[in-house]
Amino acid sequence: MYQRPRRNRKSQAIRNMVEENKLSIHDFIYPLFVTENSDDKIPISSMPNCFRWGRELILKEIESCVALGIENFVLFPAVDDAKKDEVASYSYASDNFYLDVIRSIKERFPQVSLMSDVAMDPYSSDGHDGLVKNGEILNDPTLPILAKMSVAQAQAGIDIIGPSDMMDGRIGYIREALDDEGFTNTSIMSYSAKYASAYYGPFRDALDSAPKSGDKKTYQMNPANKREAILEAMLDAEQGADFLMVKPALAYLDVIHVLKENFTLPITAYNVSGEYAMIHAAAEKGWLNYNDVMLETLLSIKRAGADAILTYFAKDAARILR
Ligand code: PBG
Repeated sequence: MYQRPRRNRKSQAIRNMVEENKLSIHDFIYPLFVTENSDDKIPISSMPNCFRWGRELILKEIESCVALGIENFVLFPAVDDAKKDEVASYSYASDNFYLDVIRSIKERFPQVSLMSDVAMDPYSSDGHDGLVKNGEILNDPTLPILAKMSVAQAQAGIDIIGPSDMMDGRIGYIREALDDEGFTNTSIMSYSAKYASAYYGPFRDALDSAPKSGDKKTYQMNPANKREAILEAMLDAEQGADFLMVKPALAYLDVIHVLKENFTLPITAYNVSGEYAMIHAAAEKGWLNYNDVMLETLLSIKRAGADAILTYFAKDAARILR
């Protein structure tokens, strides 16, 4: 027997030497939920160790993440029902607390990279990512709203705009609006292949953002489709996206892989709330080892081709990787 692959596994030193993929703290983008009330720290029952952070406490939370070496964040607003309407007008209002939070984080921590959420659902009384008329989610009339939201976030100092809405043509529309206002250096991370997934359940609990009627299947992708992800990514790349995202991650590792093979832009993956909740639940029951399964899961997403991972595990993983 000439070929003995086990020779390259015989010691930790050799295993380390031939390791093909390595997780790094720099791979992580940490999602954080923010609320308007300064001192809030509201637990999210289906997402252990995740909170809705008040506008003061979020600064402390970011400080503790920075101390662990985490430097990329994505922020999601939890908006009072009273501020929601059919056209999501609060999303770009000058007194919007989310924009305030962006400004205060960038002031205190100019070195961190902040990504936003662009979609109507946190601000919409219908709970959909686009404008709703007679039960239909309208595409083109939604685009100016997304553009206004994006420009307001750019003005507040956001580094990366994150359109999560899956409307057609939004990347080009937003790119043009940003450029027209002089924000040529503001990046766009497109949720390019975002599937209509049951794995978003805990997130919708976190933000009270579930659709009031119907589902998101006319804009989010069918979980059965892979080639369609290439079409979506192609359109986003043509329209000026700086990063292409696949979401969710775990049940879509093949999609991450196929985009990595076909595009030169960085590929990112969103390790979503349901994926986080599953591992926590099994670990709580003593059925899985939390740290080991977490790291193996993140590594699998990287091995599939993700250059960066949006993950609620960022802090726990950073503590181990340090
Ligand atoms: C909505 C949005 C969702 C997530 C991020 N942005 C949910 C949805 O599309 O209903 C899900 C994130 C997660 O589950 O962790 N614009």
